[in-house]
Amino acid sequence: MGESAKLVAGGNKELDLPILTGTVGPDVIDIRKLYAQTGMFTFDPGFTSTAACESALTYIDGDEGVLLHRGYPIGQLAEHSSFMEVSYLLLNNELPSKTELSDFSRTISRHTMLHEQLMSFYGGFRRDAHPMAIMCGVVGALSAFYHDSSDIADPQHRKISSHRLIAKMPTIAAAAYKYSVGQPFVYPDNSLSYTGNFLRMTFGVPAEPYEVNPIVERAMDRIFILHADHEQNASTSTVRLAGSSGANPFACIAAGIACLWGPAHGGANEAALNMLKEIGTPDKIPHYIARAKDKNDPFRLMGFGHRVYKNYDPRATVMQKTVREVFDSLKVSDPLFETALRLEELALSDPYFIEKKLFPNVDFYSGIILSAIGFPTTMFTALFALARTVGWVAQWNEMISDPNQKIGRPRQLYTGPTERDYLPLGKR
Ligand code: CMC
Repeated sequence: MGESAKLVAGGNKELDLPILTGTVGPDVIDIRKLYAQTGMFTFDPGFTSTAACESALTYIDGDEGVLLHRGYPIGQLAEHSSFMEVSYLLLNNELPSKTELSDFSRTISRHTMLHEQLMSFYGGFRRDAHPMAIMCGVVGALSAFYHDSSDIADPQHRKISSHRLIAKMPTIAAAAYKYSVGQPFVYPDNSLSYTGNFLRMTFGVPAEPYEVNPIVERAMDRIFILHADHEQNASTSTVRLAGSSGANPFACIAAGIACLWGPAHGGANEAALNMLKEIGTPDKIPHYIARAKDKNDPFRLMGFGHRVYKNYDPRATVMQKTVREVFDSLKVSDPLFETALRLEELALSDPYFIEKKLFPNVDFYSGIILSAIGFPTTMFTALFALARTVGWVAQWNEMISDPNQKIGRPRQLYTGPTERDYLPLGKR
């Protein structure tokens, strides 16, 4: 037996809990037998000290600001790779060869169309529906269309479902946008790249040819890479929990989308840009920083802080650089970028943010660039969901393939009434 941790609990009962070691990162104390041996649970709301699974996909060192996918630093992937390449890496453990990449990209492009019957679902939504509401509904509805790959115990079925989800998300998100602006849906063009096709389906119209701008395409692809996976965050844990019951992958990803929507998670990109618009000019920043520090004010600096990063989020570094590159190449500017830079500078020199180790996260700058590309704020979180789908399906696959996989079933510290007798209505 390797190292263990000693615990004295439940009437001086002494317990040796095994310590498990990963390839890198903190060791974990294995408490799986704790309840059987002591009759006690651990208590960790928010999972601040709990590893819920074993995973070989993504590693984060929050103190150092490191993010690795299958060992590769996010900065290198964002600089040199493509979203299709990162998707292959997350799904298959290794970077693809040239042939593997072209085969994979071709397979994905063959699944980009939606069943025509599914397209008619859109008409049931109000025109002003939030794209995330549409995404939850339409992705969940995919479950009703693909009975040919519904055996989650079959790796081949899981693979087909994964490819379908990755391929169809751009079509679903672009259609949500088109529906909201009252334009006809633009069908996929499989001669374009994954990202180029998405841009065309979003911004193209049937009345004229659409030319993909390579600068925008590269920036968008990089944004997708930055959002591809992020370890056991709330939405990924939701996908795993939903999947642990044996639910089909489309339902699991719909659950992930619902969780991502919240402003503390993926919804922060929309909230961050709305906040920058509300702040407006740099002279108003001190007022908002004071509000963020005020315990009696619910306002928080959106795009700031992270459960795991206690240093600069490496994705925010790439995002800030991408904003500059796109603005320079397209010869555009946005006064909100100056406001954001000044806000970051002031917050990072303020003792409140220094002591609490609150730094910009991926969502702080993403809204500025998405807005420059032409997306309305309501689409931001839908784009996050599109990109995160590959991480979700890779994590879901990893979980289903794990021989130790069990249904997720947390316990609780019960604080409600003890047993009591029912009183008939007339006696209450
Ligand atoms: N502005 C002001 N104060 C903050 C902020 C913020 N953005 N974030 C955390 N704090 C304070 C918080 O009030 C608390 O103070 P105290 O210790 O005095 O009670 C302390 O910092 C620790 O915060 P926490 O809420 O206990 O930390 P958490 O790990 O539970 O929450 C978080 C992490 C990301 C939800 C939070 O930092 C937050 O709400 N940030 C704004 C929303 C945001 O940008 N979310 C995107 C996260 S990255 C992308 C993604 O995951 O989707």
